[in-house]
Amino acid sequence: MRIIAFVAFPALALTLSCAADLMPTAQEGAQVYADNCTACHGPRGAGTGRLTSGQTAPDLTRIADRNGGEFPRARVLSQIDGYGHGKVARDAMPEFGLLLQGESVPVEVDGVMTPTPRPLAALMVFLGSIQKG
Ligand code: HEC
Repeated sequence: MRIIAFVAFPALALTLSCAADLMPTAQEGAQVYADNCTACHGPRGAGTGRLTSGQTAPDLTRIADRNGGEFPRARVLSQIDGYGHGKVARDAMPEFGLLLQGESVPVEVDGVMTPTPRPLAALMVFLGSIQKG
């Protein structure tokens, strides 16, 4: 019966499957962070001091503070996934290509809804939630 309902109402099936695509929570991102980032950025994002590479992993609770009070989503996403490179030396922070796998969720980046791998989106939400000052 349920299958018939989905065949008859494909829009309904689509709506239901989209429910799973909702934006991840900060808590989900905290887990991804704990699994990948604490070694350099510290358990609470405040950094760990000098790394063996001689570099310092920045305090991730002050990203917005360093950016005139605005959390720069696009920059943060590209920093993590490795597409950005930008000011970051390639070997300073690993590219988290693995995070690119899995389902995508729509994330608003600079006013545009951008399909973003869920673990990456979760990290962004988490980092946004720990901003200070
Ligand atoms: C091997 C150490 C290392 C690991 C692991 C690491 N990072 Fe980094 N990260 C760095 C360093 C070093 C920088 C600064 C590079 C620079 O500014 O040149 C940085 C910079 C950043 C920035 C930019 C901050 C800003 O103010 O622009 C973000 C965001 C960030 N890391 C997030 C993460 C996240 C999220 C993870 C886990 C998925 C992670 N990092 C894992 C070393 C690391």
